Amino acid sequence: MKNNKIYLDYAATTPVDAEVLKTMLPYFSEEFGNASSLHSFGRNSADAVFNARLNLAHFFKCTGEEIVFTSGATESNNLAIKGVLRAYNKNNKKLPADERKKPHIITTVFEHSCVLKTCQKLEKEKKIDLTYLPVYSDGVIKIADLEKAIRENTLLISIMYVNNEIGTVQPISQIGKLLAHINEQREEKIIFHTDATQAVAYFDTNVKRLGVDLLSMSAHKIYGPKGVGMLYVKKGTKITQIQDGGAQEFALRAGTLNSAGIVGLGKAIEVLEKNKKKETKKIKELRDYLINKILKEVSNVRLNGSRSKRSPNNINLSFSDVEGESLLLYLDAGNIAASTGSACSSGSLNPSHVLLALGLKPEQAHGSLRISLGKYTTKKELIIFIAKLKKVLEKLRKVSGEILKEYYSKKK
Ligand SMILES: Cc1ncc(COP(=O)(O)O)c(C=O)c1O
Repeated sequence: MKNNKIYLDYAATTPVDAEVLKTMLPYFSEEFGNASSLHSFGRNSADAVFNARLNLAHFFKCTGEEIVFTSGATESNNLAIKGVLRAYNKNNKKLPADERKKPHIITTVFEHSCVLKTCQKLEKEKKIDLTYLPVYSDGVIKIADLEKAIRENTLLISIMYVNNEIGTVQPISQIGKLLAHINEQREEKIIFHTDATQAVAYFDTNVKRLGVDLLSMSAHKIYGPKGVGMLYVKKGTKITQIQDGGAQEFALRAGTLNSAGIVGLGKAIEVLEKNKKKETKKIKELRDYLINKILKEVSNVRLNGSRSKRSPNNINLSFSDVEGESLLLYLDAGNIAASTGSACSSGSLNPSHVLLALGLKPEQAHGSLRISLGKYTTKKELIIFIAKLKKVLEKLRKVSGEILKEYYSKKK
């Protein structure tokens, strides 16, 4: 709690950890060298980037050469999908015309917009065949659907680890195992990518156990700075850079390295690794306290997505007879920050594609609120939040309840 403000939107972004900030600061000023320069200024930056890379490699259980620094998860996801496709096409063009195959990509209906829009655009441009896996009312996909969707020309599977809106966890390591088995019998291997942006802080990130070839993440979700992230690229994965320029990052991501940001990401991972177990337990207890209290004390509310297969920090609720946006603004006026969906899609008044995919009616999706907890959340803050939420709901339901009921009944 800062200046009486309560922040319950850690899935949107997190504050930079004090230790992380301290480690980064010299790399904005005296250690400003370009990590690609050969002189001592450059070497100092390159050393710092090297150490950050080692921290990440240790955390994800891979080698430093398998870490590609990017500007965040949006870029990592774009690089993963377009980079794999570009490498495939390069090779495909060399084949006789009758042997060329249009590649097939499998994703899910409820990915983050940077994966969904990338795939949708490629499909519209007729560059790929695309299959969306459905998600069920528990917010989890079914492996049987994935098995059925795999084709002879399947090139890539991109499935998020933890959904950013409802916090549900997908069976990534099970999919990894299945693909390892399927790939044994295939000449052209299927590449497996996961967007682990919301998972890194709480779930297993051992890339070998997960069985992934590509994994995206972002520093600002784990108390690091904004504008820096990473794509894990398993050695041997067929992928090409998507922006042209220098040969940085093993020729996979052109552009001067954001050395201060990378140092921040490296430190954020180190701090996270040290406290992950303890923090996960604490945050999970707070989440369960909040869910139990709200379901018991607030009327006409539902928890969206599975209760057990969900991130320790996510609570996504739908309240009947209220608009999520009004709820959010009233809470904000009461110094509480929450969200109606992902930060990237707020500002749009369309109901969340994630909640609709779960089978919610538009009015239920419109009345949703995402509360996401973090390492600075306290029980005291949650007690204040529950009290304010009850007051705001009472007020809004009195004012808008009847109007909304009439509006949605006319729409049917
Ligand atoms: C699951 C997921 N993927 C991707 C992103 C985009 O990350 P970035 O802000 O680093 O581009 C986010 C951020 O909200 C996210 O939650």
